[in-house]
Amino acid sequence: MVQLTLPKNSRMTTGKTWPKPEGASNVRKFQIYRWNPDDGKNPSVDTYFVDMDSCGPMILDALIKIKNEIDPTLTFRRSCREGICGSCAMNIDGINTLACIYGMDEIQGDVKIYPLPHMPVVKDLIPDLTHFYAQHASIMPWLETKTNRPAKEWKQSIEDREKLDGLYECVMCASCSTSCPSYWWNGDKYLGPAALLHAYRWIIDSRDEATGERLDDLEDPFKLYRCHTIMNCTKTCPKGLNPAKAIAEIKKMMVERAV
Ligand code: SF4
Ligand code: FES
Repeated sequence: MVQLTLPKNSRMTTGKTWPKPEGASNVRKFQIYRWNPDDGKNPSVDTYFVDMDSCGPMILDALIKIKNEIDPTLTFRRSCREGICGSCAMNIDGINTLACIYGMDEIQGDVKIYPLPHMPVVKDLIPDLTHFYAQHASIMPWLETKTNRPAKEWKQSIEDREKLDGLYECVMCASCSTSCPSYWWNGDKYLGPAALLHAYRWIIDSRDEATGERLDDLEDPFKLYRCHTIMNCTKTCPKGLNPAKAIAEIKKMMVERAV
């Protein structure tokens, strides 16, 4: 378990319980966070019953089935269904993860689904990621060069390319940052694990020529040093990445360049 923290606008009220599907013998109960900014009501948790004999194996399959067959107002993000776009991140059974690659069989008992914790909610399971994306943009997530552009391509050795493994695979789902207590309390100034993993990805890219500026920008009591190695980020990453290690490597580089 990583955490169970309700979204920011949470004064919960009792939600609606939808009827069980008629004639179904293999039914599973889903409890899902609901909040509509347009109806003036407090958030609630609605209860749905899904016929598992006609449902796919992933949590996203159940959400799509609920939306298609029970309650078309249920709102969530999804696109690829393959763990690539990062848009279906939510808190499932207490874990921040991607609904499309999280199997129903990994959960015992009722399935509880909330938006990513400690973020403003746009509607139902959709968090507002505006600030999260702005933080990502702030670390200059692109190749910065000063020398003249080569005729064909920026070359990189196989060994240097391998240094990017475990970093470039990030799908920007925000599961890690929203599992981090430091990010919950200081997310306005602390960049959080996802943005810092991306910062490190460009810092160690052998083709990049702005390493000094990148480190200078992170030399800040909040942006980087609010990481207290709690490790929730690494525990929860649905892509198996290690943002905590990337942050530790940046801190190490800060020490090395200071001596
Ligand atoms: S590091 Fe993992 S959890 Fe964090 S944004 Fe990237 S894919 Fe998502
Ligand atoms: S729908 Fe794209 S990662 Fe889940």
